Amino acid sequence: MTQPTMRAVSQQKLGGPEVLEQVELPRPSPGPAEMLVRVEATSVNPTDFKHRANGGFLGRPPFTLGWDVAGVVEEVGLGVALFQPGDPVLGMLPYPGRAGAYAEYVVSAPRRFVRRPAEIDVPHAGALPLVSLTAWQALVDIGNVSEGDRVLVHAAAGGVGHMAVQIAKAKGAYVIGTASAAKHDFVRSLGADEMIDYTSEDFTEKATDIDIVLDTIGGEHGPRSVSTMRPGGTIVTLVVSDVHPDFVPRARERGVRPAAMLVEPDHAALRSITELYTAGRLRVELADVYPMSRVQQAHAVAERGRTAGKIALTWD
Ligand SMILES: NC(=O)c1ccc[n+]([C@@H]2O[C@H](COP(=O)([O-])OP(=O)(O)OC[C@H]3O[C@@H](n4cnc5c(N)ncnc54)[C@H](OP(=O)(O)O)[C@@H]3O)[C@@H](O)[C@H]2O)c1
Repeated sequence: MTQPTMRAVSQQKLGGPEVLEQVELPRPSPGPAEMLVRVEATSVNPTDFKHRANGGFLGRPPFTLGWDVAGVVEEVGLGVALFQPGDPVLGMLPYPGRAGAYAEYVVSAPRRFVRRPAEIDVPHAGALPLVSLTAWQALVDIGNVSEGDRVLVHAAAGGVGHMAVQIAKAKGAYVIGTASAAKHDFVRSLGADEMIDYTSEDFTEKATDIDIVLDTIGGEHGPRSVSTMRPGGTIVTLVVSDVHPDFVPRARERGVRPAAMLVEPDHAALRSITELYTAGRLRVELADVYPMSRVQQAHAVAERGRTAGKIALTWD
């Protein structure tokens, strides 16, 4: 019997968006405690274009990028009781080592997924998991964000930032965001209380008494952000490859907790996130939706770093 195949995006070498090509690959099949998901949508995260260019945790090509998944359960392996074939789901593949969502099918452990509520359409669901989990894990799990906390979100208009603003607001925090002025109305519409135009203002002068910082920029933003904080707070940097040598000493000196985190798939957090979504307290802004046949263009646009919200990819 010939093995079924699927369309996937792969790359033979590291490089710019032009290295991404559509190929036919063997379709995976689920083992015990695994399920096969037909991918309907995914998204572009910065980690996709960084891995496309430098291999990173994925090593040498060929490989298939993509961690976000929205799709339908196609088949379940022995012992899977959480889902059944036909269920609409959203979730993420293990980060950082196991990408592969830029393909028509993925195999996964069920608890990396939740049921996709009808209120979240397929492209929005494909853009939601990685950025919302990142913001949730940074602010809720690590930062323990609480009513009245003052939260500083860098790049508040970006994929992670726009999730973080809404999650912090849902937890009762006071939110200060950084973005260029043209994006301030957008971030305020998500609930931000104050905005700083990082292109013309020094955030270290405008942000004060901060309890939690979400550092999406890395480098010297880490130690500089510490100077805005109250003792007892937490600063979480997401750019683990660019942690400034002064980050930890400066944080300790000020009496704040420094953390550098990588996002993980998380069923319980995804349930909380989809509940917030269906309650109308969280939404994904889609800057654009590209068919997978235009994945090169989607990467080129995302890589400019000016996206408000997310760029989704769908199989056509
Ligand atoms: N550790 C992890 O697990 C993890 C998870 C997710 C993301 N990340 C990392 O976190 C970073 C952000 O990810 P993302 O998905 O949010 O990226 P993104 O959506 O591509 O971010 C784009 C946004 O960044 C803003 N921006 C750029 N430079 C800025 C600056 N100096 N100050 C304030 N805003 C700035 C842009 O706004 P303007 O146009 O106004 O400049 C734009 O809205 C990336 O480095 C990503 O790799 C890490």
